[in-house]
Amino acid sequence: MIIEPRMRGFICLTAHPAGCEQNVKNQIAYVQSKGAIDGPKRVLVIGASTGFGLASRITSAFGSNAATIGVFFEKAPAEGKTASPGWYNSAAFEKEATKAGLYAKSINGDAFSNEVKQQAIDLIKADMGQIDLVIYSLASPVRMHPTTGVLHRSTLKPIGGTFTNKTVDFHTGNVTQVSIEPANQEDIDNTVVVMGGEDWAMWMNALKEANVLADGATTVAYSYIGPEVTEAVYRKGTIGRAKDHLEATAFEISKDLASLNGKAYVSVNKALVTQASSAIPVIPLYISLLYKIMKAEGIHEGCIEQIQRLYQQRLYTGKAVPTDDQGRIRIDDWEMREDVQDKVAALWKESTTESLPEIGDLAGYKQDFLNLFGFGFEGVDYLAEVDEMVQIPSIS
Ligand code: NAI
Ligand code: NA
Repeated sequence: MIIEPRMRGFICLTAHPAGCEQNVKNQIAYVQSKGAIDGPKRVLVIGASTGFGLASRITSAFGSNAATIGVFFEKAPAEGKTASPGWYNSAAFEKEATKAGLYAKSINGDAFSNEVKQQAIDLIKADMGQIDLVIYSLASPVRMHPTTGVLHRSTLKPIGGTFTNKTVDFHTGNVTQVSIEPANQEDIDNTVVVMGGEDWAMWMNALKEANVLADGATTVAYSYIGPEVTEAVYRKGTIGRAKDHLEATAFEISKDLASLNGKAYVSVNKALVTQASSAIPVIPLYISLLYKIMKAEGIHEGCIEQIQRLYQQRLYTGKAVPTDDQGRIRIDDWEMREDVQDKVAALWKESTTESLPEIGDLAGYKQDFLNLFGFGFEGVDYLAEVDEMVQIPSIS
């Protein structure tokens, strides 16, 4: 079929297999252009199909020659209906990894469940023995708790009072005021259950109990801090409480891994256009201003540049891993630079529907958003018939 983007709200209902493949190839080429990383050889990536998790899988494989197992929750294609982008990304990743002689297998299912954890353990035992690195990169609006069976939903709300600020509908470019009602305690608790560290700890505990973690095993989860303008809805809102919990969990996991000389880290990453971040009010306007400034300064990065730098300049330098005073790796250092933040804050005040195309990088935002679904890539013929039924080799 010929596949076009079909937008609905914050998502695109279609994905382009050839464009997703191009996206994966571009990321591989970037990692290869940066040279070899003396990194992990056996890697489990939880949330491996899009965004930071996909970039982590690519960096592990093509930067450090690692065998990878990827866990994700994606929609398979059906006749006349495309798969979700993470499905096509993973199909392309496995194809390229296999070509390069690298082991790559995937598990498509609910990472929060006991069953998927057991599946991953069985696969590690059968094919790898033990693993050196576990990347935890889930972004999900819901979590079915594996012991209680309760379905928890996360929210993106401020805490303590209504939050009013500007936001942009990045499809139309309309800048409007948005007001978000504050969370109640239940919202906070649910968001912590979904996006906090409990499931990360459960994974690490299950892997350790099964004796599939190698000596010196490392695990990394991703967090975000961001600027003052997004604080009420992000870092000091419900999702921020979950990130606080995730960051605290790193210390708990580290204690537990001490007997293996292992360690858990949280890496604070840069704000980027992903399926997860597009759904958060206020953030798209911030990102479009940030992109403009960072591109002008020559310090803009996407997921792959961020994760490649995380591996090469933070995790695998042969020296101690540098962290901030709260034990976190900071790869958001360029985003948070004072001069960058001062410029964004000044532009924020000026941003309107009329000024944004000029002062912000709305075009860059839209481009990145299309790219998430495999659209807008150079070298892809979007008028050509493509097979939507692309399968993931290790799953089909
Ligand atoms: P994403 O939406 O691109 O990726 C989410 C991944 O989780 C996908 O692989 C998806 O298949 C998987 N997933 C979701 N629910 C699942 C389930 N139940 N079982 C198995 N897999 C499931 O998100 P993104 O942005 O890459 O986020 C990853 C992490 O990075 C999150 O913790 C996020 O908070 C963090 N982060 C994101 C930033 C951003 O600006 N996008 C900035 C800093 C941190
Ligand atoms: Na991810």
